[in-house]
Amino acid sequence: MSEIAIIGGTGLTTLDSLEIIRREMIQTPYGEPSGPVTHGVLSGREVVFLARHGYGHTIAPHQVNYRANLWALKDIGVEKVIAIAAVGGIRADLVPGRLAFPDQIIDYTWSRDNTFFEDGGNGVTHIDFTWPYCEELRQQLIQAAASAGIDASDKATYAATQGPRLETAAEVDRLQRDGCDIVGMTGMPEAALARELELCYATCAVVANAAAGRGEGEISLQEIEHNLVSGMSQVGRILEAVMPLI
Ligand code: HPA
Repeated sequence: MSEIAIIGGTGLTTLDSLEIIRREMIQTPYGEPSGPVTHGVLSGREVVFLARHGYGHTIAPHQVNYRANLWALKDIGVEKVIAIAAVGGIRADLVPGRLAFPDQIIDYTWSRDNTFFEDGGNGVTHIDFTWPYCEELRQQLIQAAASAGIDASDKATYAATQGPRLETAAEVDRLQRDGCDIVGMTGMPEAALARELELCYATCAVVANAAAGRGEGEISLQEIEHNLVSGMSQVGRILEAVMPLI
């Protein structure tokens, strides 16, 4: 049984260093997850991998079945989830290619299925979400990055936007006034659903681009893809380094 899951985001639909054992499609009361879960071994540890947007990257951020994804992981015995996320950088030091381990979230998404507690089925519960990420896992990721010699910020507030379009410059101004440092489209409801299922959840964010109005001119998809290639190779090294720490 794998205690650890990795949810791969844009730029990370497969994990090169993962020795694949088998793939498993899991049905949930909430429908199908984004794809089969891949069971494998990473740095000698059994882990499972799930591509958030599907293995062909076909599922848009607002259409990801977050409930099915988290439920499927819980169902197969996962206890800890490392989420990989591509983001835009708002804070000046969060330049393209740099990594961040966010410690806070502000949710700007809407119309997503964002709870397991509805329709009377599971009873109404109000989870504590003061600290949205699992601090123990976050610290292990920070330590792994340091030991791999990778420069990363250990503090950032993640703005979760609806997408799939990128933001306007004025929207990013507002996010910055709100205290956000990075912006992405998948951080919520994923983190809250993980907490509802009592999963220990932390995010490794890769800055793919300067957020709207923070760089020169428009944001190009080529630029995002280019930065994600180098960023995701660093993510791979962090994931290898974190396994013995967990
Ligand atoms: N905004 C929202 N999501 C993103 C961005 C961005 O600039 N870059 C990568 N994911």
